[in-house]
Amino acid sequence: MEHTNARHYPSVTLLRHARIAPPAAALSVSAALVLFVWVVVTLCTPMLWILHTFADNSRIFSNATTFDGNATEYDWVVNQGNIMNTNSSGGELVMILTESNGGTRLSSTRYVHYGTITTTLKTGRWNGVVTAFITMSNIKDEIDWEFPGANTTQGQTNMFWQGVVPQKTIGDTTDGISDTFSNYHDYTIDWQPDALNFLVDNKTVRTIKQSDMVDSNGVSHYPNTPSSIQLSLWPAGINTSAPGTVQWAGGMINWDDPDYKSAGHFYATIKKVDIKCADPQSPNSSVTSYVYGSNSSTMTPSVAFSNASVLVNAGPALSVPFHGSWWILGAAGLGLLGLL
Ligand SMILES: *[C@@H]1O[C@H](CO)[C@@H](O)[C@H](O)[C@H]1NC(C)=O
Ligand SMILES: *[C@@H]1O[C@H](CO)[C@@H](O)[C@H](O)[C@H]1NC(C)=O
Ligand SMILES: *[C@@H]1O[C@H](CO)[C@@H](O)[C@H](O)[C@H]1NC(C)=O
Ligand SMILES: *[C@@H]1O[C@H](CO)[C@@H](O)[C@H](O)[C@H]1NC(C)=O
Ligand SMILES: *[C@@H]1O[C@H](CO)[C@@H](O)[C@H](O)[C@H]1NC(C)=O
Ligand SMILES: *[C@@H]1O[C@H](CO)[C@@H](O)[C@H](O)[C@H]1NC(C)=O
Ligand SMILES: *[C@@H]1O[C@H](CO)[C@@H](O)[C@H](O)[C@H]1NC(C)=O
Ligand SMILES: *[C@@H]1O[C@H](CO)[C@@H](O)[C@H](O)[C@H]1NC(C)=O
Ligand SMILES: *[C@@H]1O[C@H](CO)[C@@H](O)[C@H](O)[C@H]1NC(C)=O
Repeated sequence: MEHTNARHYPSVTLLRHARIAPPAAALSVSAALVLFVWVVVTLCTPMLWILHTFADNSRIFSNATTFDGNATEYDWVVNQGNIMNTNSSGGELVMILTESNGGTRLSSTRYVHYGTITTTLKTGRWNGVVTAFITMSNIKDEIDWEFPGANTTQGQTNMFWQGVVPQKTIGDTTDGISDTFSNYHDYTIDWQPDALNFLVDNKTVRTIKQSDMVDSNGVSHYPNTPSSIQLSLWPAGINTSAPGTVQWAGGMINWDDPDYKSAGHFYATIKKVDIKCADPQSPNSSVTSYVYGSNSSTMTPSVAFSNASVLVNAGPALSVPFHGSWWILGAAGLGLLGLL
C-alpha cells in the first residue's frame, strides 16, 4: 500500500520505522520550497462528533479516483481494493485482500485537525497480512495503529512527522490484547496539540508528549496538519516488499491458507469509526475547508480555516487527486511534488 512501501524498515525489535529525520539544517532548503504551497482539504465535520457505522456501504464511494470531492455525499472513499458488507450485527464493513487486488484502503473524505478517533475492528490473523487504522496528512504526518497478522494478541503504534519518525524508538508494541481476530476491540488515536494518546478499549496504553518531540532548533516533529482517517488491509509479505518489511509482518503470505481458500480472500472487519473533532479553534458556519499557509521558520505549514471549495474543477490553478481529497497547488507546487 502506498503509505507503507519503501520508506519503512523494521528495527531489530521488528517495529516498522521510516528513516530518521535528517538534521534540521538539511531540511531547510526543501522546506522553504515545500511550505510555499496552498493545500485545501475538507473540514473535519460540520458536527463536532460523528459516529460512522456500516449498516450498508451507501456512505462509501467505490473509487477515489472519480470522487468529486463533495464530503456531504460520502464519508469514505475506496482508494484501492474491494469491500463487502457482512449484512449482520447491524452491518459491518469488510476489507478484502486477494492475491490480485493488492489489498484494500479507504480514506475518510473529511480531515481531522486534532481529534479523538476510535475504530472498533477485528484484524486479520495471517502471516504477512497487516490490518491498519491510521491518520495521514497530505504532507505525511501520520499516526498508526497497525496489526501484523502473525500475532493476534498485540498491536503496534507509531507516529511520523512529514514522513519520518522523530525518534528511532517511536514505534511501540502493545501486548495482551485478547485475540484481535475473533474479538472486536476499540482502538483509539487521541490526537491533541499537546499529547497523543493511544487507547485499547478505553484504556490508555501509550502517551507521546508534543514537547518531547521538539528538537534543539525548536522544530516540533509532531503531527500537526489536517489528516484523513485511513483503514486498510495490506499485503506486506509479498516478494515486492523489502525483506525487512516481510520479516516485520511475520513472513510471506500463504495464499494456500485454509481461511483464504474457504472465503476466497483475506479480510478485516470494521464495526464503527467514532470521530470527535478537536480543532484548536472552532470553525464558524462559513468555513468549509482547511488551507495550508507557509511557515518555513518552523518547517511546518500554518493551517487555517477557509471557505474555499474542495470540489473537483473548483481549484484556481491545478487540482491533483490525493487520498480522496484534492490539492490545489500554487506556484511552487512542483517543489512540493518533488519532495514526495
Ligand atoms: C454536495 O452534495 C450535497 C448532497 O448531495 C448537495 O446538497 C450539495 O449541493 C453538494 N455541494 C456542492 C458544492 O455541489
Ligand atoms: C478507479 O477508476 C480508475 C479510472 O477509471 C481506474 O483506473 C481504477 O482501476 C479504478 N479503481 C478501482 C479500485 O476500481
Ligand atoms: C450484503 O452486502 C452487500 C455488500 O457487500 C450487498 O451487495 C448485498 O446486497 C447485501 N445483501 C443483502 C441481503 O442485504
Ligand atoms: C505474540 O506476542 C506475545 C507478546 O510478545 C508473545 O508472548 C506471543 O508468543 C506471540 N504470539 C505469537 C503467535 O507469536
Ligand atoms: C468505551 O467507552 C464508550 C463511551 O463511554 C463506550 O460506548 C464503549 O462501550 C466503551 N468500550 C469498551 C470496550 O469498554
Ligand atoms: C513474485 O510473486 C509473483 C506472484 O506471487 C510471481 O509471479 C513472481 O514470479 C514472483 N517474483 C519473484 C522474483 O519471486
Ligand atoms: C509561524 O510559526 C510561528 C511559531 O509557531 C508562529 O508564531 C507564526 O505566527 C507562524 N507564521 C505564520 C505565517 O503562520
Ligand atoms: C469565519 O471564519 C473565517 C476563517 O477563520 C473568517 O475568515 C471569516 O471572517 C469568519 N466569518 C465570520 C462571519 O465570522
Ligand atoms: C468566500 O468568502 C469570500 C468573502 O466573503 C467570498 O467573496 C467568496 O465568494 C467565498 N467563496 C466561496 C467559495 O464561497
